[in-house]
Amino acid sequence: MTEAAPEIRVKALRKTFGEHEVLKGVDVTLLAGRVNFVIGRSGGGKSVLLKHLTGLLSPDSGEIWFGDREISSGGSRGLNELRRKMGLLFQEGALFDSLSVAENVSFPPWYHGTMRPSETARRVKDLLSELGMEGREDARVSELSGGERKRVALARALIMEPRVVFFDEPTTGLDPILSTQVDSLILNTRDRTGATCVVVSHDIAAVLTVADQVSLIHDGVMILTGTPKDFRNSAIPAVRDFITGGEEAAALGG
Ligand SMILES: Nc1ncnc2c1ncn2[C@@H]1O[C@H](COP(=O)(O)OP(=O)(O)O)[C@@H](O)[C@H]1O
Ligand SMILES: [Mg+2]
Repeated sequence: MTEAAPEIRVKALRKTFGEHEVLKGVDVTLLAGRVNFVIGRSGGGKSVLLKHLTGLLSPDSGEIWFGDREISSGGSRGLNELRRKMGLLFQEGALFDSLSVAENVSFPPWYHGTMRPSETARRVKDLLSELGMEGREDARVSELSGGERKRVALARALIMEPRVVFFDEPTTGLDPILSTQVDSLILNTRDRTGATCVVVSHDIAAVLTVADQVSLIHDGVMILTGTPKDFRNSAIPAVRDFITGGEEAAALGG
């Protein structure tokens, strides 16, 4: 791969809830067209960071840049336009169970009102077949398996052809086979659409097999950003602890 340009730059980002300072000056650059993992312990502020990147939370101080645009202090109009270029894949539960697969996947274009229905239908069909769910448009979401639900959620995240796709713990709670399937979906997304992928995770195995870049958040700051190899070889004690902890959990089947 050629050298990647920065897609998102976060500078000195701080966020406190009440007395609890969660982000204590986060600095990180996420690379365009790459799979960027953000990892760290449970409760470490990964989802809070992701919510800042997607404009769902605003920082107490610091800056967030998408290309040459600063979003943290910008008006909501600019943010709405940017949001259309973002796809979000949340953990389980974000699908509408009583609706069909096609209705779920078509939700973003319907909501934004920017796509012709015939174009929406064509994209739904194409995405489902790319994701191995050809012809399942009319299935009820409540009838689907866990892996199928993930794929529907991914189709919905991709239908607006986002420039950046955010995945919050996409494999947490899935069995190993499904986790591997989701990992392939992430790599496919990068390769097929050239989208920038931002994956929040605490899954050390996925980091080492899927990530192009990995950033570890610890005690409210990013203590390492580099390749999986940099991460593996790091001598920083908190990085070593994280790797060892992950391996022990894997050995115990957790
Ligand atoms: N809206 C909120 N109000 C108060 N505290 C919050 C809020 N969102 C997150 N937190 C706290 O911030 C910390 C980090 O949470 P989170 O980012 O969800 O962790 P994780 O790294 O597991 O995703 C937690 O202690 C959580 O309780
Ligand atoms: Mg989280």
